[in-house]
Amino acid sequence: MLFRLIHLPYRKTTSLWLLLGLMSSSLVSQQPQAPSPNDVAMHRFVDDLLRKMTLDEKIGQMSQVAYQEPHTVSHEERIRKEQAGSFLFVTDPAEINRLQHIAVDETRLHIPLLFGFDVVHGFRTIYPVPLAMASSWDPALVEHAQYMAAREASSVGVRWAFAPMVDIARDARWGRIMEGSGEDPFLGSRMAEAQVRGFQGTIGAPDRILACVKHFAGYGAAAGGRDYDQSDISDEQLWNVYFPPFHAAEAAGAATFMAAYMDLNGVPASGNRYLLRDVLRTDWGFQGFVVSDWETVSNLVTHGFASTPADAASRAANAGVDMEMTSSLYRDFLATDVKSGSVPQQTINDAVRSILEAKYKLGLFTNPYATPGLAAKELVSADQRHAARVAAQRSAVLLRNESNILPIKKSMHTLAVIGPLADSKPDTMGSWSLAGKYDDTITVLNGIRAKVGSAVEVRYAKGVEIQRGNASIFDPQFASPPPTLVTADQREKAFKDAIDLVKSSDLTVLVLGELQSMSGERASRATLDLPGEQEKLLEAAEATGKPIVLVLINGRPLDITWASQHIPGILEAWYPGTEGGNAIADLLFGDAVPGGKLPVSWPRSAGQEPLYYAHTLSQIPADRDAMYWDESSAPLYPFGYGLSYASISIRDLKLSSIKLPPAGVIEATVNLHNTSNVDGDQTVELYTHQRAGSASRPVRELKGFERVHVKAGEQRSVTITLHADDLKFWSPATRQTELDPGTFDLWVGDSSAATEHATFTVSP
Ligand code: NOJ
Repeated sequence: MLFRLIHLPYRKTTSLWLLLGLMSSSLVSQQPQAPSPNDVAMHRFVDDLLRKMTLDEKIGQMSQVAYQEPHTVSHEERIRKEQAGSFLFVTDPAEINRLQHIAVDETRLHIPLLFGFDVVHGFRTIYPVPLAMASSWDPALVEHAQYMAAREASSVGVRWAFAPMVDIARDARWGRIMEGSGEDPFLGSRMAEAQVRGFQGTIGAPDRILACVKHFAGYGAAAGGRDYDQSDISDEQLWNVYFPPFHAAEAAGAATFMAAYMDLNGVPASGNRYLLRDVLRTDWGFQGFVVSDWETVSNLVTHGFASTPADAASRAANAGVDMEMTSSLYRDFLATDVKSGSVPQQTINDAVRSILEAKYKLGLFTNPYATPGLAAKELVSADQRHAARVAAQRSAVLLRNESNILPIKKSMHTLAVIGPLADSKPDTMGSWSLAGKYDDTITVLNGIRAKVGSAVEVRYAKGVEIQRGNASIFDPQFASPPPTLVTADQREKAFKDAIDLVKSSDLTVLVLGELQSMSGERASRATLDLPGEQEKLLEAAEATGKPIVLVLINGRPLDITWASQHIPGILEAWYPGTEGGNAIADLLFGDAVPGGKLPVSWPRSAGQEPLYYAHTLSQIPADRDAMYWDESSAPLYPFGYGLSYASISIRDLKLSSIKLPPAGVIEATVNLHNTSNVDGDQTVELYTHQRAGSASRPVRELKGFERVHVKAGEQRSVTITLHADDLKFWSPATRQTELDPGTFDLWVGDSSAATEHATFTVSP
């Protein structure tokens, strides 16, 4: 365990050709590296501690307690008995320090606790949800947002984020699509690395926290988009689509991983030795620790996998789950499992070592406490608000802008702001905003009013209310305002009032979408319709003939096919967070220019799901968009699509070479020209396609991108470097990683429908 295994992508299955190619250049780096002096000190410290620990104390380190869950033994007693290594969901710095003092001052070995929390898109200041952040196509922004979140979390003593969530999701029915970076492994990998860097920085800095990459692996492929349902994923898809963001996060130094809830190809992820040991530790060289998801150890029995709770504990530990979240099977049965021989003592030692090392690296043994007074300075500070506002501006995607209805002219007299989400603070924050506060949040109505002041008369009507069909078990945590329109008369009047307001206003901003509880965990849907009567409201508003702009607040692509033909301005804001309303007002009035791009292919309806651009060619490629007789099979908007108020063309593609040797690069250069009088951003996206090889490859795959700012009238060139390494894939034909020689297509443009085209060959 002293040496980090050398790290090559897909090491175990690397082809001979690839190895030969790499040998000359990197033979030296394949030697095991000597541990650094810091590592030596850490190993000595942890070895010493391990020698002193009893089996029960070790198992205590492997147990995580959910603070707010009902418990028969008090938390204080648990800590004193050294039966807890970690707590989740404590956010009050005074309480964290009180519990930490018990652990450090009143136990035999003085081992500090590790406090974890779902810092998924911010802590107290809520940033746009991860799907939104991925829409920025701006890894530096994403890294900064997670750094800011780490600053807030660490200020209260939370030193472990259960994020990033890097599950690839290709089915918008799955509610947790909003928690990840969308459908693409390349974009997802860049977002995964950026988030790890943002949380962790240099592990040990007091304002950084550990990342936990989740949910390993394949959770996003839930059958039918039903949360927790099984995932059946071919090896080809696992290695080429679902694993890459995890691998990228691991390579970026992620300290911890979380096992997933569901069965992967028939084996529960939390009892899946192949995932947690063979791939994660042996192939990738991961040396951190793995935590289960919520009760997933005890759920090994529910899955019909383990026969008894004791068997579940043994299977999870042997598979590689080092820490159990929430359920108490490790505490209750692991010692017996060790004594009976079903779990080797070495397995326990390895698990505890990785947990103690994480605590050591974080600096918890020397500085275990939250700094008194720091939270008051850090939480929702002006810096945090500024970062959250910029993040929300850069994450929004302009989907339609007929006749330049946007930006809204500030010269108007009356503006209607309408919709159930126009003035709802919780729904502006979105899911995973557990430590967020409604009072901090700026709704779209607040943001517009602050922007226009008394110059424009802004009038608001809710129009309709929306509710989930089935209540959510998370309603207590992620509540939306309770309905107020309870009778049919009230509902009718609210609808009519809203339409009257549209008629008497110069322009209407309709804010529609989903409550925060409609996307996220246990928030899968069978349709992608605008929930409730929102479509009716939208169509009635349009029927007035008045100008309408639609702002969407939601966590997944919705069926807006009608709107895409009738509503001239459509801005996808996702759940934009604490500063969402200000950011949306900035965008609507042109004080910020939209530049986000879709991280998902936008479906026309749920019937098209799963939908993704990187499909392989069928035998009737020309009919690709006509695979259904009752509707188009093309997306409504392609992956990578998004408009701007500026007009920035991408032309004149030139390649530095038309031959790409293994381990080489090709530079693709294009000219950008902002032909408008507005400064704006353009994202240059590079896609490739392998024409023939050991296996069929997708029609297009993203292999590079860069978001750049181009001033009005400016021309500039942008170069994207394509690495031969990025063309490697796990071939289902040879069952190993390949770089197939042959001809490749390359496109550069502003979406996955890019048209600037060239070809190159990969030759040995
Ligand atoms: C269950 C979720 O699946 C996981 O993402 C989360 O981190 C844990 N609960 C803790 O809240």
